[in-house]
Amino acid sequence: MTASHPTPLTDDPDWWRSAVVYQVYVRSFADANGDGVGDLAGIRQHLPYLRDLGVDALWLTPFYTSPMIDGGYDVADYRDVDPSFGTLTDFDAMIGDAHSLGLRIIVDLVPNHTSSAHPWFVAALAAGPGSPERARYLFTEGRGERGELPPNDWESIFGGPAWTRVEDGQWYLHLFDPAQPDLDWRNPEVRAEFEDILRFWLDRGVDGFRIDVAHGMIKAEGLPDVGFSTMTTGRRQVELLGKGRLPYFDQDEVHEIYRAWRPILDSYPGGRMAVAEAWAETPQRLARYIGPNELHQAFNFDFLDATWSAESFRKVIDTALAEAAIVGAPTTWVLSNHDKQRHVTRYGDGPDGLRRARAAALLMLALPGCAYVYQGEELGLPEVLDLPDELRQDPAFRRTGESRDGCRVPIPWGGDLPSYGFGPQGCELSWLPAPATWAALSVAAQTGVPGSTLELYREALRIRRTHPALASEGAGISWLEAEPGVLAFSRTAGGSELTCVVNISGVPAHVAGYGEPVVAIEPLAGTGDGHLLPVDSAAWFERR
Ligand code: NOJ
Repeated sequence: MTASHPTPLTDDPDWWRSAVVYQVYVRSFADANGDGVGDLAGIRQHLPYLRDLGVDALWLTPFYTSPMIDGGYDVADYRDVDPSFGTLTDFDAMIGDAHSLGLRIIVDLVPNHTSSAHPWFVAALAAGPGSPERARYLFTEGRGERGELPPNDWESIFGGPAWTRVEDGQWYLHLFDPAQPDLDWRNPEVRAEFEDILRFWLDRGVDGFRIDVAHGMIKAEGLPDVGFSTMTTGRRQVELLGKGRLPYFDQDEVHEIYRAWRPILDSYPGGRMAVAEAWAETPQRLARYIGPNELHQAFNFDFLDATWSAESFRKVIDTALAEAAIVGAPTTWVLSNHDKQRHVTRYGDGPDGLRRARAAALLMLALPGCAYVYQGEELGLPEVLDLPDELRQDPAFRRTGESRDGCRVPIPWGGDLPSYGFGPQGCELSWLPAPATWAALSVAAQTGVPGSTLELYREALRIRRTHPALASEGAGISWLEAEPGVLAFSRTAGGSELTCVVNISGVPAHVAGYGEPVVAIEPLAGTGDGHLLPVDSAAWFERR
């Protein structure tokens, strides 16, 4: 075993219940060595920024050895760092610094599939049909007279068939790219390997795991057809991370895996946690992934999918809180991530999209539970829509025409010229180019500027951490009477009350009786007995 870092953060095993977790898309966060790709040393350099922002933990997307066909979600060695991101020594230094700054580290675990460059898959190809090496994956015979047709009608989430044929005639399953063969989780050897990988990173001091495709590891017995496909109906079986009921997703047996993982997490001190990236048909099925015997959280993607309307948000919030109450685990809130168009753009782009995104941030950060902030959302970054096709790297792009590159453009840290401080001084390289408009959105350009999105996040996070009504998960929400299209709820604890109001009504709203504004996305005009909340605006009010 290698060096482990005892964390000074072991005193609160429930830290994750109300944490704010900042998602670091490692390739695009900060580049310390000037090769145009973000790295662990770059994260380490910017830890003070994250501490000052006021988040509690970082979730790092995969930084393991990988051919980078899917940005690192194609892992060739689960116990090492890809040279483009650094070394295990860099990881140890980064987590050590993070812990001493009071920041926890969640790492991404990719158990559904390996890279085709993983030694197991290389051995499977070499060993041939019927071998124990092939039994770690889902190899099978094809249909048709000579086995020339795929074994079933399953489609890859990245488009096209989910099966690829190898030289000896067998086919293997890949729910994503052909370079990401699916493991057979009914094989005990696969289970034992991942339990060991969990321990490897827990021993190195990680505080938790984000479980990739947590709903996909078990496939229905007999690999039955779905019954329709793009070929037959023109309708795709599954959109990129969609949530239909399918024989390759959300099978009941997948829960056995998490019931085996939980005691491992619980055997370490300090509240080691796991969050599922799971897409289930209903909030009820999603809730089955969490609880005292399984995982700690699941991403609540319904919040991310909510449209810019009071009804939509209200419904999602009520459902999520009700489900969370049943399973006794806090819900999560997420507005953006590395797979989805940034919410500034989803909410209308331009100034309208930005003000709505800022209002959504105040909504999210006032809710009980754990909030996930995607890097750059604190800067109000929009999706980059006009990347040249030849620069796009998302493997889905060539197959479906859809690309996730626009939300993965490197972070602008400062300066007037691209890549805006992403690399060391004087270095202009970045694996995707940032638009000219991002000079004004950089960290340096927004720091200390009253009213900037960065200062709004800092202020909201400061209040969330220190205000009795927000600081604990305990204070639930009470919806307040409000005009149609206005969301208003309060949380009360320790003798003080904090009210969040978001105006999605299309007309200015008169807000009175909630006390004094403590943070707002823009200065509010007084009306004598209250305040006027403009259209698409939000504010928090306090009464002590
Ligand atoms: C979900 C990840 O978030 C996404 O980026 C990746 O492409 C797929 N899982 C496959 O690992």
